[in-house]
Amino acid sequence: MLGLVKLLFLIMISLSVASMSYAENRKYNIGKIASKEEVAGWDIDVRPDGFGAPKGSGNAMEGEEIYANRCAACHGDFGEGVDNWPVLVGGSGTLASHDPVKTTGSYWPYASTIYDYVYRSMPFGEAQTLTHDDTYKIVAYLLNMNDIIDDEFVLSDKNIGKIKMPNAKGFLLPDPRPDVKKYKNGQPCMKNCNVPLKIIGKARDIDVTPEDEKS
Ligand code: HEC
Repeated sequence: MLGLVKLLFLIMISLSVASMSYAENRKYNIGKIASKEEVAGWDIDVRPDGFGAPKGSGNAMEGEEIYANRCAACHGDFGEGVDNWPVLVGGSGTLASHDPVKTTGSYWPYASTIYDYVYRSMPFGEAQTLTHDDTYKIVAYLLNMNDIIDDEFVLSDKNIGKIKMPNAKGFLLPDPRPDVKKYKNGQPCMKNCNVPLKIIGKARDIDVTPEDEKS
């Protein structure tokens, strides 16, 4: 009998120790701890090297019909863009010209971040209604229309970080901004950084910001 009392006592002690440390972790003790499933719903970023890509796969042939149903109304059957909706295909060799056509093929440096963007925000107005497999299929279709992969290439979480994109080297690296890590001796520079400035072009020259008549 004594044994049982002792046991209950021990259980009570350990419960109160557990709740003490629990309270310590949660300073204000409001809200509730997010469940694994809830965290997974927000943790959807896919990084350039493919880290974070959810399990799934698909090829361009499978993507064609889904793209036609979910994307073509705005972006056109072949990614040519309907009215003023963004063009998704073509534009190769235009980036340095007077009228650059920035598309998933000509401009985007990584296939993985196209996946991230499409899954996160498209179709416009119906974001996050695509399944992971359907997103792989659609991205495969976009890459195929841009002549980056062939129509039977199976795009998946295993290879999405390894696709070579035509403009992958078209960005300034390392990141030249001083407030990023590794700027000086591995540290970001936060004040008196004295960054040399060189203006290499003006938005005005390519008419992206039309002059205001009144000014
Ligand atoms: C209702 C019209 C509409 C539909 C349908 C739609 N989009 Fe979009 N899409 C847009 C708009 C508007 C933007 C620009 C959004 C912005 O810049 O904030 C965009 C941007 C994009 C971009 C980035 C373009 C770039 O190079 O910057 C991609 C990629 C894209 N959409 C893919 C898709 C895919 C894939 C689908 C189908 C699953 C889809 N969209 C469905 C309207 C649409």
